Amino acid sequence: TKLYTLVGYPVSHSISPVIQNSIFAAKQCNSKYITLAVRPESLKEAVTVLKENFRGFNVTIPHKQAIMDYLDVIEPKALLCGAVNTVKNDNGRLTGYNTDGYGFMKAFQKLNIEMAHKEVLLIGAGGAARAVLCELLQHHCSVTVINRTEAKAKSLQRELSGNFPGLLTVISDWHQLQARYDCLINTTSLGMEPNRSVSPIDSPYLSRFSIVYDLVYNPFETKLLAEAKRRGCMTVNGLPMLFYQAVAANQIWTDSVLPGKTEQELYEKTIR
Ligand code: ATR
Repeated sequence: TKLYTLVGYPVSHSISPVIQNSIFAAKQCNSKYITLAVRPESLKEAVTVLKENFRGFNVTIPHKQAIMDYLDVIEPKALLCGAVNTVKNDNGRLTGYNTDGYGFMKAFQKLNIEMAHKEVLLIGAGGAARAVLCELLQHHCSVTVINRTEAKAKSLQRELSGNFPGLLTVISDWHQLQARYDCLINTTSLGMEPNRSVSPIDSPYLSRFSIVYDLVYNPFETKLLAEAKRRGCMTVNGLPMLFYQAVAANQIWTDSVLPGKTEQELYEKTIR
C-alpha cells in the first residue's frame, strides 16, 4: 500500500482523507491517505519521516510556507505565490506544488463564471490568501486587499507587484472601498468554527458585491454567506476549492486523471 498524508496542525477535523481515499478508490490505486498532526517546531523531524514512509503529502496550516525550506524542487506557480500545498516524493527527492489556486478557480468554472479581468476585494493576507491572490492576478483581475495587519498585506503587495504591476491595491480602512466590485473573497478564519457568530465584513457593505466567496467550509454556510445571500449576492463556500485542489494533488501523485464523470460523481458523494 502506498501511503499519503495531510500534514498540519490541527488536522484531525479535516475531510481531505475522505476525498483523497475516494479518489484513490476510483482510480483503483492501492493507496491510503491519513492525517499527521505536526507542530510547527517539529516540521524538520517530520520531513525525515515523510521521506521514508510517504509517496506524497499535502501541507496545510501552519506549514504551507515553512515546508519550502525542505524541498528539492519547487514548481513555478508555488514559487510565485510563496506557498506549497502538495509534495511529491520520488525516492527521497521532494517536489513542491500548489494546487490551491486551481481548486479556487474551478469553483467559478462550475458556476460558469468567467473570472478574467474582474474587480475583486480580498480579505486577509495569510497563507490562504497567497494562492488565491496569485491565481486572480494571473487571470488579470484587479485585486484590492484588506487585512487586519496592514503591513502583511503591504509586504505581499511588494512581493507580487513586480510580476503583476498595477493590479494590486492595499487599503487599510473599510471607508476606502469602491462603490462596486464583482467579487468579495474571505481568506481569513473569521466565521469558522468555533467563531461562527462573526463575519469579516459589516453586512451593509455586502450590497456592493455580485459574488461572495468564503474559503471557509466549516460551517458550510458562514454568517458572511448567509448575510450575502440575504442581500441577493451569489455565494460560494470553501468546499469546491477543497475538492478540486485534492483532485489536482492526486493527479500529481498518481500521474493519472480522474474521468470527468467520475469526478462529478465523487464531488456529489463527498461534498454535497
Ligand atoms: P491561513 O494560512 O489560514 O491564511 P494565517 O496565515 O494565520 O492562516 O492567516 C490568517 C488570516 O486571517 C490573516 O490575514 C489574519 O490577519 P492578520 O494578518 O492580521 O493576522 C486573519 N485573521 C485571523 N484572525 C483574525 C481576526 N480575529 N480579525 C481579523 N483578521 C483575522
